[in-house]
Amino acid sequence: MLKSILVTGGAGFIGSHTVVELLVAGHQVVVMDNLSNAKPSVLARIRGLADRDFTFIEADVCDRDSLREVFHQHDIGAVIHFAGLKAVGESTRLPLDYYRNNFCGTLGLLETMKGFGCRNLVFSSSATVYGDPAEVPIREEFPLSATNPYGRSKLMIEDLCRDLASSESGWRIALLRYFNPVGAHPSGLLGEDPQGIPNNLMPYLLQVAAGQRPSLEVFGQDYPTPDGTGVRDYLHVVDLAKGHLAALKALPGLQGAVPINLGTGKGYSVLEMIQALERTVGHPIPWRVGPRRPGDIAQCYADPSRAQELLGWRASLDLDTMCRDGWNWQQNGAASQF
Ligand code: UFG
Repeated sequence: MLKSILVTGGAGFIGSHTVVELLVAGHQVVVMDNLSNAKPSVLARIRGLADRDFTFIEADVCDRDSLREVFHQHDIGAVIHFAGLKAVGESTRLPLDYYRNNFCGTLGLLETMKGFGCRNLVFSSSATVYGDPAEVPIREEFPLSATNPYGRSKLMIEDLCRDLASSESGWRIALLRYFNPVGAHPSGLLGEDPQGIPNNLMPYLLQVAAGQRPSLEVFGQDYPTPDGTGVRDYLHVVDLAKGHLAALKALPGLQGAVPINLGTGKGYSVLEMIQALERTVGHPIPWRVGPRRPGDIAQCYADPSRAQELLGWRASLDLDTMCRDGWNWQQNGAASQF
């Protein structure tokens, strides 16, 4: 019988897009999610888009009994682990939550996987593990550091995976370091649904474009970048989801825990992002310059060549597509969720 793929956090922003791609590719999928940052209607939307069913278990990844139960009930061949907390600012206020959810959640998952003889993992890491890089584009062998509890929790998990993989053979772990995921499913049915005031540029900008917020504050225009604003590697979430499928497929050929950048390799400034979204929405988007946000870096974009070599993956969707799909979601999808 075909083995199943366990997707923790499969109802979230990146997880939901990945589950659609997995189902479309014919995988048997078990989603485990505590729905702390996702609406239940996402599950029906995934089923509708893929035109296939999957198993859903409402449980926290920190709940060891539920994890064991999942591995008892299903023949899990590999795990794609998204479940975790992801807001940098919040992590400085609630470090215990971040270490428990992210680190302890992964520790319990790895122990359970080991107990059931499953050693194939695709992990959601982040470009945040590069700290403030000395140069760009960023390659996987650059030094690692963290400046906040969220970043530290990702780095600790990476270290845990590396130590585990060197302690015994057989582990195949892809540490996928995401750059800045944006956009939404082209159907307008899946997307990012930030609770409260968005922290990240694109969700905030989309709300300003829709008239839900008066203007965007650009966090600093005195960085050593072409227009003085921060430069990032924005990546369409559907491309990112496909990167997970490519990683899953490539796992048998990986040795130990292997970090892989998932980015486009192109950097855009905050002002370029505003202009791109203005082209999409067809009207000016109000913005003003404010002070730098503490902890922000000037430039962050990937050297994506390892992903191409090891996974045969590269991003294919451009900035206009990211804006179009993000705007479509903002107008049609987000509000109709329940
Ligand atoms: N920015 C603004 N105004 C805003 C929000 C953001 O000017 O209201 C700027 C930031 O200063 C930065 C750029 O837009 O230059 C992107 O900011 P985001 O918050 O969207 O993304 P970051 O690159 O700061 O953070 C993201 C993820 C983190 C991850 C980090 C490093 O959100 O989880 O990338 O990989 F840690």
